[in-house]
Amino acid sequence: MLRKLLTALVLVSMVAVFFALPVLAESLSGKVEVNSWWTAGGEAEGLNALIKIYESKYPDVEFINATVAGGAGTNAKAVFKTRMLGGDPPDTFQVHAGHELIDTWVVPGYVQPLTDLYKSEGWTNSMPQGVLDIVSYQGDYWSVPVNIHRSNVLWFNKTIFTKYEITPPSNFDQFFEVCDKLKAKGIVPFVMGTKEGWEAGHVFESVLLGKLGADDYKGLWTGEVKWSDPRVTDALETFAKIASYLNTDHSALTWDEAGQYLLKDKGAMMIMGDWTNGWFMSVGFEDYGWAPSPNTAGIFLALSDSFALPKGCKNQENVVAWLKVLGSKEGQYGFNKAKGSIPARTDVDISDYNDYLKSAAKDWQKDAISPSVVHGAAASEGWSTEYKDIISLFVSKPDVSYAQKALITAAEEYLKK
Ligand code: GAL
Repeated sequence: MLRKLLTALVLVSMVAVFFALPVLAESLSGKVEVNSWWTAGGEAEGLNALIKIYESKYPDVEFINATVAGGAGTNAKAVFKTRMLGGDPPDTFQVHAGHELIDTWVVPGYVQPLTDLYKSEGWTNSMPQGVLDIVSYQGDYWSVPVNIHRSNVLWFNKTIFTKYEITPPSNFDQFFEVCDKLKAKGIVPFVMGTKEGWEAGHVFESVLLGKLGADDYKGLWTGEVKWSDPRVTDALETFAKIASYLNTDHSALTWDEAGQYLLKDKGAMMIMGDWTNGWFMSVGFEDYGWAPSPNTAGIFLALSDSFALPKGCKNQENVVAWLKVLGSKEGQYGFNKAKGSIPARTDVDISDYNDYLKSAAKDWQKDAISPSVVHGAAASEGWSTEYKDIISLFVSKPDVSYAQKALITAAEEYLKK
């Protein structure tokens, strides 16, 4: 009897060791350093959800959460660049899919292809073709996208809209009618924070989209549509008019600080990406509504956050494990629920996401997709930076012909490259 019991025990332990082996082989130690700019409400929670998953899978790896504050990577991108070019690359860094990834890092040869990982993790089947395209170059995949964000969203304060019987404006005429009505009531009609230099460019890309439509807006970045087009003039004139309804302290505020106007029922509308939805969730604000920015119903101005693998990173194995978490169903579910974006994967169950996110997921399926310029999808970093600088200056000095000439010159310079 005892012998039988012992034999059974030995057998059971052998089986247990056999099945534990792959797990043991995966156990990692050392460090991993992940660089991003996710420090604001919603952003930080999304990142933390991913870190939690990573730490539970790899408890022996020291996770270095190397964030550099500043919306849209204002400061972080400069830090990544110094390190990458100086031969001290982080293990991985946040980068927008599209031109920012390909032109800045892939073509000059700073990052490693991830095609084998895509195949082993099945991402070629779980990510839609449109997303695979913007992380591809010469037949390889180069970064792991965690989400899809929408740029052209008009957020509004529901209490103010209800009190003054306002329906969300769907075109610019309605938008300005709403602005006049609210101004007369002492409410700041349109809120913006321009402290970091990218926010005006963010709003203006939605205005351009509203004036040119999905295809011709895209054409501005491919050279098919000229920046001398009268619709660009119209967009600049419209933007100058929008700026005349702004909060006067905009240059002292970041995007989320400006959002406080909505929280306090002092400001009515704001055009900002849907990380605002993540921020609203993180501060417990529920009194908001949303609509496509004027004249952009049926168009999704898109961007995607992704992470790339630098050549010469110090903790290759640990960081590949991080990339796997980013691309996993579990990772994308937890991250996006808090971040305010939708998963890049098509197979994540989002039935318990909030209403905004469910509506964004529907729109992503049916809308025309256009690339955001401020968030790296439409143009190279150099061009996007010039564009942002021109529009940022335009807010303080709204000279339409000067700005349009500068935009034409920038396009000529970068389309040649
Ligand atoms: C974008 C980024 C978003 C969000 C936003 C504000 O560039 O793609 O994830 O973080 O900046 O910081």
